[in-house]
Amino acid sequence: MDHTAIRITNLTKKYNEQTAVNQVKIEVKQGRIYGLLGRNGAGKTTIMKMMMGLVKPDSGDIEILGERIGGSSKERKRLYSRIGAIIETPGFYPNLTGTENMEIFAKLRGTVSRNAVKEALDIVGLPYKDKKLFANYSLGMKQRLGIANAIMHDPELLILDEPTNGLDPIGIAEMRDLIKEMSSITGKTIFISSHILSEISLLADDIGIIHNGILLTESSYAELEKNNTKYFLLKVSSSAQAARVLEQKLGQLHYSVDDDHTIRLFDTQTDIAQVNKALMLSDIDVSASQLCNDTLEDYFRKITGGEGIA
Ligand SMILES: Nc1ncnc2c1ncn2[C@@H]1O[C@H](COP(=O)(O)OP(=O)(O)OP(=O)(O)O)[C@@H](O)[C@H]1O
Ligand SMILES: [Mg+2]
Repeated sequence: MDHTAIRITNLTKKYNEQTAVNQVKIEVKQGRIYGLLGRNGAGKTTIMKMMMGLVKPDSGDIEILGERIGGSSKERKRLYSRIGAIIETPGFYPNLTGTENMEIFAKLRGTVSRNAVKEALDIVGLPYKDKKLFANYSLGMKQRLGIANAIMHDPELLILDEPTNGLDPIGIAEMRDLIKEMSSITGKTIFISSHILSEISLLADDIGIIHNGILLTESSYAELEKNNTKYFLLKVSSSAQAARVLEQKLGQLHYSVDDDHTIRLFDTQTDIAQVNKALMLSDIDVSASQLCNDTLEDYFRKITGGEGIA
């Protein structure tokens, strides 16, 4: 059996002359949380809209839960009853309560069970039959109601476009817990976008980084973490001499010479005091030695920040 929930191949969308999404290929396995990470204008929403059939691709293929997007209206209806999405804020009525809003959407869907509204509100932590009008909801409550609306029909796949946008740090953490819970308890596949690396890295099993419509890397978080390198940075009077001492006196081979005065030592278990002492005894001045950390943030910045990328 095929355990792929989403298979996107060579997906391209142009708006006039601008290519918003360029030959994108994404695969998401069932039950995983996939994070699509990219800066403003990278193409995240456009991809999600194409997945939901709201925007027509110029070329490429999208297969969700074994069905191709772009089929007959009957097929579409069947498929979309298995997906829950928040792409643009759903049009809730400000003068109705959360429960009343949900009941309207339940009626429109027609396919949900009798307790669906209450159950969905329970999951997102909003009260059932509460008197508060939607207009008076906080942003966090509005986002939760959006999620409740997206999960009411118990979909297998959730597509969430920046669900934490505008939330405060506590709201973000709560939303993260909620998404994780939905994934671990109900086994839903979750496709989520964000422009905040730390948020995605705390949440997603797999991460795709998109920039100017192009998917740059797609890998598991564990793989990405390998770019999270730790090392000792040494500032010395002569890198060449220092390298000799490192190799011959200390048996250190795992290092790199950045320039005439800068060396990186990648074995972080090294006794750095010993290194400093050995260098000084060989008449090499050490003006700095510190433990450094290239974070995922640095990595994200490097690959999206214009270094060699158009
Ligand atoms: N309807 C449209 N008409 C013209 N250009 C569009 C349209 N929708 C999106 N674009 C352009 O396509 C590119 C990708 O936009 P998209 O909304 O997919 O990015 P995004 O990654 O969701 O950004 P954000 O983080 O700001 O939501 C942008 O340059 C945007 O200006
Ligand atoms: Mg967007």
